Amino acid sequence: MVGIGSAVPGQRVSNSEIETFLDTSDEWIQSRTGIRERRVAEPELTLLELAARAARAALTAAGVDPAAVDTVICSSSSPDATFPSLACRLQAELGCPHGPAFDVQAACSGALYGMVLAQSMIQSGLSRTVLVVAAEIFSRLLDWSDRSTAVLFGDGAGAFLVGGHDQKGAEIVAIDLGADGGGAWALDTVRYRPSEEAPSTPLPEYASSARALDRVVHMDGREVFRFSTKILEQIVVRLAGAAGIEPNEIALIVPHQANSRILATAAGRLGVPFERFACNVERLGNTSSASIPLALAEADRLGRCHDGELVCLVAFGGGLTWCGVLLRWQPTAVGIDDPGDLDTNLGIAGREQLPSQDHKEVSA
Ligand code: ACO
Repeated sequence: MVGIGSAVPGQRVSNSEIETFLDTSDEWIQSRTGIRERRVAEPELTLLELAARAARAALTAAGVDPAAVDTVICSSSSPDATFPSLACRLQAELGCPHGPAFDVQAACSGALYGMVLAQSMIQSGLSRTVLVVAAEIFSRLLDWSDRSTAVLFGDGAGAFLVGGHDQKGAEIVAIDLGADGGGAWALDTVRYRPSEEAPSTPLPEYASSARALDRVVHMDGREVFRFSTKILEQIVVRLAGAAGIEPNEIALIVPHQANSRILATAAGRLGVPFERFACNVERLGNTSSASIPLALAEADRLGRCHDGELVCLVAFGGGLTWCGVLLRWQPTAVGIDDPGDLDTNLGIAGREQLPSQDHKEVSA
């Protein structure tokens, strides 16, 4: 993996803001999910633009010209259109050559499914440099009157640039990939049925039922909780076994940011201290397939990825799908594009180096 990029919308939406129009509370949301706020796309922001920002962050950080990207793979459960694919439109937007471009649909596991496909295409000789981009605007896929789902998700995008062994970056050591279609019912989309009651308080634009919603997220929270905690544990154990180590020899686990209770429960089952888990769900919510590249970029920027150590990426989600990738960390270029970064100080050095980039923070 030669580059990682991430991008989020600037608009921050706190639990307290959601309290103003939904029967919920900051206390309930934080205690059940660990989420304090999330980013929500501004009305004019398209998924393509968000995906392109994450892609450019990775490419710029790695010093790779879009002309060198011969394959584009995208993941999204919230695309602007059913077709053409996000990958095809991104290929044109970035100016990549006319190699293969296609989307994968594996819900929250999509970024890692894409990474595994990228590795396979490179190993088979079909591709040389693959751009994998996971982008989600779940705020447009939510029924904002359904408190069981509306409080969980956020918007964002992340990118992995994958190259051959001759290029510098983290090495893939082991992979665990699977799906259980029998559990599809637990996390899916259903036809949107607007409430017949007029809202008692004015709704913010992102939550307005005036938007033409067709289908919205539906979830059996308890079943998803059971599945997620179990599969997260199993993936880490299997990947550790494949590498001939114990789970607690893994230096950093970067899981899908579903919610912090899921992550803490899985950490307890594994006997791995929760401090070894990268967790940014408090500030970004659950960004579905974008969450792992977002969390990995942030973990590296915070100095949590050390050369030669093992870093385990673990995804799970609708389908049901899962994917784990064990990495041997090597210096990997990271770019973060966050116009709303007011208090984490991520990428301050990048801001000083690149004054002409406005809000973008990019560093290798
Ligand atoms: N605010 C206030 N109350 C709420 C809210 C809310 N936002 N949502 C539900 N409640 C209420 C319910 O109505 C219920 O009330 P009742 O007892 O009067 O009927 C009560 O809280 C308890 O509801 P449960 O669903 O039993 O709550 P639970 O303790 O199971 O926690 C939760 C719900 C947090 C969703 C939990 O099931 C969970 O963590 N599930 C995992 C789901 C998840 O995070 N999915 C992420 C997407 S999936 C993925 O990324 C793979």
